[in-house]
Amino acid sequence: MVIRPRIRGFVCITAHPVGCAAHIQEQIDYVKRHGAITGGPKNVLVIGASTGYGLSSRITAAFGCGAKTLGVFYERPSEEDRPATPGWYNSIAFTNAARAAGLYAANLNGDAFTDDLKRQAIDIIRRDMGPIDLVVYSLASPRRIHPRTGAVHKSALKPVGCVYSNKTVDTDLGIVSDVTIDPASEQEIADTIAVMGGEDWEWWMQALDEAKLLAPGATATAYSYIGPEVTWPIYKNGTIGLAKNDLERAAKRIDALLKVNGYGRAFVSVNKALVTQASSAIPVVPLYISILYKLMKAKGTHEGCIEQIQRLFAKQLYNGSALNFDDGGRVRIDELEMAPDIQAGIAPIWQQVNTANLETLTDIAGYRAEFLKLFGFGLPGVDYTADVEPHIPMP
Ligand code: NAI
Repeated sequence: MVIRPRIRGFVCITAHPVGCAAHIQEQIDYVKRHGAITGGPKNVLVIGASTGYGLSSRITAAFGCGAKTLGVFYERPSEEDRPATPGWYNSIAFTNAARAAGLYAANLNGDAFTDDLKRQAIDIIRRDMGPIDLVVYSLASPRRIHPRTGAVHKSALKPVGCVYSNKTVDTDLGIVSDVTIDPASEQEIADTIAVMGGEDWEWWMQALDEAKLLAPGATATAYSYIGPEVTWPIYKNGTIGLAKNDLERAAKRIDALLKVNGYGRAFVSVNKALVTQASSAIPVVPLYISILYKLMKAKGTHEGCIEQIQRLFAKQLYNGSALNFDDGGRVRIDELEMAPDIQAGIAPIWQQVNTANLETLTDIAGYRAEFLKLFGFGLPGVDYTADVEPHIPMP
């Protein structure tokens, strides 16, 4: 099958297995170039391990720290005439590369919110790995079937308590327009917290604790975003922001659990806005990212997921370093995005940007290239005219 990108709105419905493998290799090479990370974890569980920040966390744990990894994700394998999702191919490429380097790597493809998947993870950890010393919780999901009540919760990306109007961009068509989003209902707020909040992270940690599979001094982290005021109505003060507050609530409880168990720690890390499948679905944010990339690339401070996470591990978590907490008890790795000169540069471009000047005022080209890369397209050295085998089983 010759696989080409087929973009529908903010998703690409095809993925290229060879391109995805090249994307994984780029990230592995980056981590290796930056050297071994000392004092790192030995046994790592990554929940949401197949794309974005979770994937970079898994790659850094394995190739920076030499850790055994169990990756949990929810991806669709190939169908008769349809390639698999990129996370499927990413996880295959990661697993092959890890095993070739003599590193243990196991995968669980299924719904992380279920009790059954947690039980399967515990069985693998007990059988093959031993107590976990790092849990990375990096899920981004549109819905959750609650395992206790059976209720289906769908997350809504909406403002809270106000109507929000701002510019947004259709990244595929390059059209800048105004979008108006009505405030979320109480139900939508509760649903978003149920999907993207901290309850499930707590349950994962409790399950590991009850199974006596948390190593003394274990670390648990989940990722969040704050960003600038222009995005606050839709992010920080919106439904997703309330869910992130709940994640911080969970972090405090998990931190207490880990302290009882021997000086462990749990925290939320605030990361940079980046092109991922999750962020491309949020209105307004892709336009902000396109402007941000332009300014950060010009200043030489641009980072992607792997740069962010390698830095978190090497400069804050391990290597004899210390975590850099803000006043709210969150770890920050978004300081280059939030630098005053970068943020001061956003507002004037935001005011001027329209469909006609989008290409010159913003890095929409960089946004599109990064977006395609998520699906394995546009990687150097990959022959996209060649026939490729889309049906690849998980090793
Ligand atoms: P992503 O969409 O690239 O990755 C989501 C992961 O969750 C994938 O591995 C997917 O398979 C997995 N997943 C989704 N539903 C699942 C389920 N029911 N069971 C098992 N696995 C499931 O997302 P991204 O952007 O890497 O986000 C990860 C975390 O980082 C999120 O909490 C997000 O809010 C946060 N974050 C993202 C930022 C961004 O700009 N992309 C910025 C700062 C934080």
